[in-house]
Amino acid sequence: MPTPPKHLLLLYYTSLLLTYLTFTNATDFPPCNAHDKAVLLRIRDHFGGPNGRLEDWSNNSDCCSAWNFIGCGSNPGDEYGRITTITFSRGWGLSGTIPSDFGDLPYLGFLSMAENVNVTGTIPESFSKLKKLYNLDLGSNSLSGPIPDKLFELKTLKIVDLSGNQLSGAIPPSVSSLSKLSQFNVSHNKLTGNIPRLPKSLKSLDVSNNQLCGPIPSGLNRFGAKMFEHNKCLCGSPLSPCK
Ligand SMILES: *[C@@H]1O[C@H](CO)[C@@H](O)[C@H](O)[C@H]1NC(C)=O
Ligand SMILES: *[C@@H]1O[C@H](CO)[C@@H](O)[C@H](O)[C@H]1NC(C)=O
Ligand SMILES: *[C@@H]1O[C@H](CO)[C@@H](O)[C@H](O)[C@H]1NC(C)=O
Repeated sequence: MPTPPKHLLLLYYTSLLLTYLTFTNATDFPPCNAHDKAVLLRIRDHFGGPNGRLEDWSNNSDCCSAWNFIGCGSNPGDEYGRITTITFSRGWGLSGTIPSDFGDLPYLGFLSMAENVNVTGTIPESFSKLKKLYNLDLGSNSLSGPIPDKLFELKTLKIVDLSGNQLSGAIPPSVSSLSKLSQFNVSHNKLTGNIPRLPKSLKSLDVSNNQLCGPIPSGLNRFGAKMFEHNKCLCGSPLSPCK
């Protein structure tokens, strides 16, 4: 058999390389888990349906590779192809309540729906089913009602931002059991009652602009007065002494 011309060989090797690259690229995205996809489609339908704000969440495409805002577990193991992150763009204009369906994404670790000002209603209790949740950012929406006690059963929580809503009621004392909690921002709400004991793991705290009252627990003055200002009657270091 005659040796093929050099340029044909080059073409052959180039196409081999391209096939290889395409293939490895494709494997960057695990296939979307069917259960999680069905849950996301319910969430899409809640937020305006197939022609609404989440219109690229199509049943005909793979949610891990083709949908906005979604991240899937890509390491081999339990999380492979499961929804692990949802990061809605700020100002995306979602409107309506937060559907309880979010609680049916058991591998969800990171949820951000900050600055979608027309997101209303209460924080669903079903969030307490998210046993892997470490980041919850619901800041700058129009949420009201209490912070569910059950939310702080999630010992995985590290970052909690509920700031800039109209949340009312007390900060659940169970927050003190969140031993990994690093950032806690509930500023600019309508929270009442006192500040409960907070975990030592905390690196950033903001409870300003609420209606909180009573002595600030000791050890929190490291965050500075600004993080406690504009409340009803908080007292003690770093604010003025209690009478
Ligand atoms: C999505 O497609 C699957 C498979 O074709 C089908 O079983 C399912 O009912 C569809 N779901 C929705 C919400 O249309
Ligand atoms: C919020 O809802 C109001 C009333 O439906 C609408 O006029 C406004 O444009 C919405 N804002 C955003 C950012 O979607
Ligand atoms: C808390 O959230 C508000 C916005 O809602 C922001 O202005 C403030 O800087 C945040 N505080 C901290 C300590 O990050």
